[in-house]
Amino acid sequence: MKAIRIESNGGPEVLRVVDIETPAPGPHEIRVRHHAVGVNFIDTYQRTGLYKVALPSGLGSEAAGIVDAVGDGVTRFKIGDRVAYASSPLGAYSEAHVLNETRALALPESIAFDIAAASMLKGMTARFLLRKTFPVQHGHVVVIYSAAGGVGQIATQWAKHLGAVVIAIVGNASKTAIPMGFGADHVIDSSRENIAARVREITNGEGADVVYDSVGKDTFEASIDSLKVRGMMVSFGNSSGVAPPFSPLLLSQKGSLFFSRPTLTHYTRTTEELDETARDLFDVIEKGAVKIAPPTRYALTDAAQAHSDLEARRTTGSLVLIP
Ligand SMILES: NC(=O)c1ccc[n+]([C@@H]2O[C@H](COP(=O)([O-])OP(=O)(O)OC[C@H]3O[C@@H](n4cnc5c(N)ncnc54)[C@H](OP(=O)(O)O)[C@@H]3O)[C@@H](O)[C@H]2O)c1
Repeated sequence: MKAIRIESNGGPEVLRVVDIETPAPGPHEIRVRHHAVGVNFIDTYQRTGLYKVALPSGLGSEAAGIVDAVGDGVTRFKIGDRVAYASSPLGAYSEAHVLNETRALALPESIAFDIAAASMLKGMTARFLLRKTFPVQHGHVVVIYSAAGGVGQIATQWAKHLGAVVIAIVGNASKTAIPMGFGADHVIDSSRENIAARVREITNGEGADVVYDSVGKDTFEASIDSLKVRGMMVSFGNSSGVAPPFSPLLLSQKGSLFFSRPTLTHYTRTTEELDETARDLFDVIEKGAVKIAPPTRYALTDAAQAHSDLEARRTTGSLVLIP
């Protein structure tokens, strides 16, 4: 079967298409024949070496497809089941992948494979951010970065569904219509506007209850300066680089702020947590509260192009690879 491998860290050119033997599932494992594979910004961190992985390595941890082999002792699934997953061992960029059955979710008939691959990891991320890290309540003022992107589109809609006032941030004027279309109350174009000043203006000087910042290095200061007294800074990504180190005193000076640097893994540690998170996501998708835009499709063999486009800020919504 075809798969993507990296033998060294570097730019998109280190993604190599290789032919490897189709893996067989061991005890409690299933093999999923992929219909669509999710591309996530974290895949670029693992490719560059920002997040360390043992090399050589496969890439990708999210896909949707059909179970075509099961190992001994598997109880959750049988051959032929539709499934999706977002936390496999690296190697989802492939025609088929093996993972422990407890990391896979039964995929409702109503959700197409490409929509699942576009939304499992990003949607479960939006869910833990909005419902667990800082539980958003009706009337909260919420700032969401990269609101035209994969996580951002879902988070914008979900925050509106929870009754928040959403201030969406996008990187250029061509992206402003996207969060507006998903219900955002305000959109800030960070290429032209001062983020903190605009948030203060919108909130009559008060600031936001919570900022969900996935950009990191370039926006750390603006995010901290956008918060109200006792607001919460949630730094959950590094698309521009890692946020700088800071003194705890800063949180006191800026208004007794809270700070979290969460990751999906720690919010879906147990099968129960994973199932609950996925159920919640499928529920908002099935009732139409969160709409998943048709993802941009690339052939599996064009994974390098998908990475280039994602890192150059050329994409909106989600990207999937089609084996
Ligand atoms: N903590 C977690 O568990 C977790 C889980 C999933 C995702 N994430 C994070 O969430 C973020 C979004 O992930 P995604 O897969 O949905 O990607 P995405 O938001 O679709 O794409 C990344 C976006 O980041 C923005 N960006 C700002 N500065 C950038 C820069 N210097 N270089 C490249 N992009 C820049 C761009 O949007 P604009 O042009 O509009 O600024 C770009 O479109 C990533 O930072 C990712 O690491 C974290």
